[in-house]
Amino acid sequence: MDEFILVLDFGGQYKELISRMTRSLKVYSEIKPGKMPASEVKKLAPIGIILTGGPNSVYAENAPQCDPAIFELGIPILGICYGMQIMCHQLGGNVKQCIVGEYGQAETTLGDSILMRGIKPQIQALMSHADQVCELPQGFTSIAHTQNCLYAACEDKVRKLYGLQFHPEVERCECGREIMRNFLYDVCGASGNYHLDGYIEQRIQMIRQTVGDKRVLLALSGGVDSSVCAALLSKAIGKQLTCIFVDHGFMRLHEGDRIEHIFSDKQLHFIRVQAAPRFLKKIKGVTSPEQKRKIIGEEFIRVFEEESRKLGNVEFLAQGTIYPDIIESGGAFGDTIKSHHNVGGLPKNIAFEGIIEPLSGLFKDEVRVIGRKLGLPTGLVNRQPFPGPGLAIRVTGVVNFKKLELLRKADHIVCQEIEKLKNKPKQYFAVLTDVRSVGIKGDRRTYDYVVAVRAVETGDFMTCTYTPLPHHTLSQISSRIVNEVKQISRVVYDITGKPPATIEWE
Ligand code: XMP
Repeated sequence: MDEFILVLDFGGQYKELISRMTRSLKVYSEIKPGKMPASEVKKLAPIGIILTGGPNSVYAENAPQCDPAIFELGIPILGICYGMQIMCHQLGGNVKQCIVGEYGQAETTLGDSILMRGIKPQIQALMSHADQVCELPQGFTSIAHTQNCLYAACEDKVRKLYGLQFHPEVERCECGREIMRNFLYDVCGASGNYHLDGYIEQRIQMIRQTVGDKRVLLALSGGVDSSVCAALLSKAIGKQLTCIFVDHGFMRLHEGDRIEHIFSDKQLHFIRVQAAPRFLKKIKGVTSPEQKRKIIGEEFIRVFEEESRKLGNVEFLAQGTIYPDIIESGGAFGDTIKSHHNVGGLPKNIAFEGIIEPLSGLFKDEVRVIGRKLGLPTGLVNRQPFPGPGLAIRVTGVVNFKKLELLRKADHIVCQEIEKLKNKPKQYFAVLTDVRSVGIKGDRRTYDYVVAVRAVETGDFMTCTYTPLPHHTLSQISSRIVNEVKQISRVVYDITGKPPATIEWE
């Protein structure tokens, strides 16, 4: 059996990063609710437990607690941020509000501990807390400090309990991965036996067993998840699969055709529904980003239902749901920033005998590995994230066909120019703002749209910094857009990070 790390969730926004990091270090992990009773934890037989961060204070009413009996199981535990605070609080230590909250990177001095083995004495650790431990429980010692935080990390060597006030799971934490590796391998004794080698064969068997000779319908958006799902199902059940691609008209230049081309070539039944006019009609005059997402999500379901009724007698619905979608929908204590509309997220009350979600245990980077193994084109497997509502949320304000066409052209130029670079940003695109500005083209006054260019560096899409694109590239983008796209007279470059901005403008 795979070695297993249990991640207990207290609502921390970085919980997925913790689980992803352990898996990328070849130790399988799953996220479960923080309040899971110790008896259930014991049944899962984890080699270690990680307590996540969370937005609460341990003294707040309804602050999530963990079963104190988990500290008696003899299983190594690592508490991160709120996880450290709740552990120390429940074991008799004290937590208090910081005089100065610490947010962002902080110079952290590390002490002598198995957790810090092989790591330089000072690191820039990522802090994000208003409370901190001010008194350690009996048996604990401090193993790191910052200027404002005496107990930036702590340990009880005997009971194998460890706490970190900072977040080793985020990219901006120097040596965070090494600290996590030390916990997994040196404290928990992992050997690193998690890999995806047998995954495809195992899933194919499972799909065939479930489906038998019945038919399956898949909503294909052309994104990585649903495309990999299509390829996997196609390999398992061939012609018994029908893929419906609802083209809502908010795709990038030639994108719909490209998706059709890739999947029409395969041995599967592929239907492209050209639904642009009805989607445009539905969002006519709508300016609120959340409203746009909601309307597009609902309309998607309507189109899909109509098409599946036309087909008749399809017993199973397949979805490209991945692990983060499941974690998000079961989210216990976190804050919703944007209600991301995953076009695969159909309601379960459509009349089907069963739902098949063959990728539901995997993170995106793992789905990409499977996609590569299945032979999908590199461009598709490495496709940048693209919002379910598409360009409708990259045209700020009111959306119409004319604006979408302007954006498609401008976005294509942005992509062409950036793709000439050796080191490409992780995500890049154009936004058509609803601002118009005065310009001059060939002795003529113009009053046309302003396009914003966005290019960001990120690994997790939870945080990002803007990419300092070379000036030459920016100049090329600017001059090509204003020359080649009539009705755009100005190009600006977005130099904001996330937080405080988000990656998309809406
Ligand atoms: P934000 O804008 O929240 O974006 O910083 C983070 C990542 O998610 C993508 N994104 C979406 N994906 N439906 C999706 O499926 C959405 O409504 C949506 N909004 C943002 C975004 O492109 C970025 O990669």
